[in-house]
Amino acid sequence: MKKVITYGTFDLLHYGHINILRRAKEQGDYLIVALSTDEFNWNEKRKKCYFTYEQRKQLLESIRYVDLVIPEESWDQKISDVKEFRVDTFVMGDDWKGKFDFLQEYCEVVYLPRTPEISTTQIKSDLGVKK
Ligand code: CTP
Repeated sequence: MKKVITYGTFDLLHYGHINILRRAKEQGDYLIVALSTDEFNWNEKRKKCYFTYEQRKQLLESIRYVDLVIPEESWDQKISDVKEFRVDTFVMGDDWKGKFDFLQEYCEVVYLPRTPEISTTQIKSDLGVKK
């Protein structure tokens, strides 16, 4: 069984997220999503989510492409996640292109094109939600 992993916040779930999850799953048979915790988002990115970690997790678990959701709690956990879950392929949107090439030592690394014109930041800005 080919295992795929991807990382992200997935707040205010939108069709760009669904697109990347579908294409990530197409890379293999089993998709793991490492979902940024509220603490990680705030401490590392000064990003406050609209939905809590548990709410975002529940949404992701309802998507047919997603097999397992685990917490992303630090930038440094990727190598150990790949080893622990015996991951074959690491997938991210191409806004991260090149950033995780160090993982090529451990698994295949694939950057998929982002879906144009949609992001959580864009939704918040269009609706006038404070960051
Ligand atoms: N993604 C994508 N296409 C989009 C938006 C996101 O393919 N239009 C991908 C990202 O490249 C990433 C994953 O979805 O691999 C999770 O991204 P995330 O940062 O949670 O979503 P964004 O909408 O980009 O959120 P933000 O605006 O807060 O950065």
